[in-house]
Amino acid sequence: MIIRSWLFVPGDSERKLEKGRGNEADALILDLEDAVSNDRQDIAREMVRDYLTANSDRSRQQLWVRINPLDTDLALPDLAAVMPGAPDGICLPKVYSAEDVNTLCNYLSALEAREGLELGSTKILCVATETAASLLTFHTYLEGVSDRLVGMTWGAEDLSAALGAMDNMNPNSGEYDDPYLMAKSLCLAACRAVDVQPVGVVYVNFRDDAGLETECLRDRKAGFIGKIAIHPAQPPIINRAFTPSDAEVDYAQRVVDMFEQNPGLGTVGLDGKMLDMPHLKQARNVLSMAEQIKAMG
Ligand code: COA
Ligand code: MG
Repeated sequence: MIIRSWLFVPGDSERKLEKGRGNEADALILDLEDAVSNDRQDIAREMVRDYLTANSDRSRQQLWVRINPLDTDLALPDLAAVMPGAPDGICLPKVYSAEDVNTLCNYLSALEAREGLELGSTKILCVATETAASLLTFHTYLEGVSDRLVGMTWGAEDLSAALGAMDNMNPNSGEYDDPYLMAKSLCLAACRAVDVQPVGVVYVNFRDDAGLETECLRDRKAGFIGKIAIHPAQPPIINRAFTPSDAEVDYAQRVVDMFEQNPGLGTVGLDGKMLDMPHLKQARNVLSMAEQIKAMG
């Protein structure tokens, strides 16, 4: 299943939890980290576990949980509290390297055994660029990372604090400043290198629908699949932007057909344009994505 939209829902908000389940988001990320104040941590853990248990049919929408970072003493109690609800996956924030993902994998194995869940069934999405060290350790993912890892996203908010910055925007261009664009690029490359889903960064101006759509289309062009959302208005826009249009699917099919009809050729012409292997690969990606989305109903 391709997850196009991942909607963050504060784990201690009854109202937002209820709203989340009715939302189009392909997955909810029930948050136990930054959206929850420390004095509400216990309540949030209980609410999230009960919610997971009450919503065991995940065929339309997966339910994930963001736990606190592994270097805090909140992470293990977060996990122990929610695993009885069999979340589809865990979102791991503020990682330093692939070692954190592998440590989480071991914790999950132990807790899956305790709960009688299938070993390896709980997946991992990490927020790969929230610490200064994380920008320098992307190679560790290539050296061996748990196959529970199905996606990585990046972040510019915590990273700017970690880098001692006052702001993460470039005042001249109005775009992210250099370190954040580097974080984005490294995240994308690492994801493709280890074959996990590169997930676009959260768009914080949640009233700016047009801006969100533009950014989604740009992310998709760059190679990202799907995006993090923080407001219920965002997932419909994200889903649409990451679903190949009929015109895109038609064109991709024509490219694939063209190569199939000319089996000996590495280069063909279509509509006056030269096409070679990278184009065929892109066309197959579009068709595969469209098919997977169709299968989701
Ligand atoms: N999930 C589910 N429901 C949400 C929601 C979310 N992330 N964000 C807002 N809603 C609900 C609101 O409760 C409200 O429902 P109601 O009218 O029944 O009360 C409705 O959607 C409209 O919300 P709105 O008034 O437009 O926004 P807000 O001012 O209440 O909330 C935020 C704005 C940013 C505080 C809120 O969207 C939010 O909490 N987002 C998630 C933040 C988060 O988890 N951050 C951590 C990850 S970066
Ligand atoms: Mg907190």
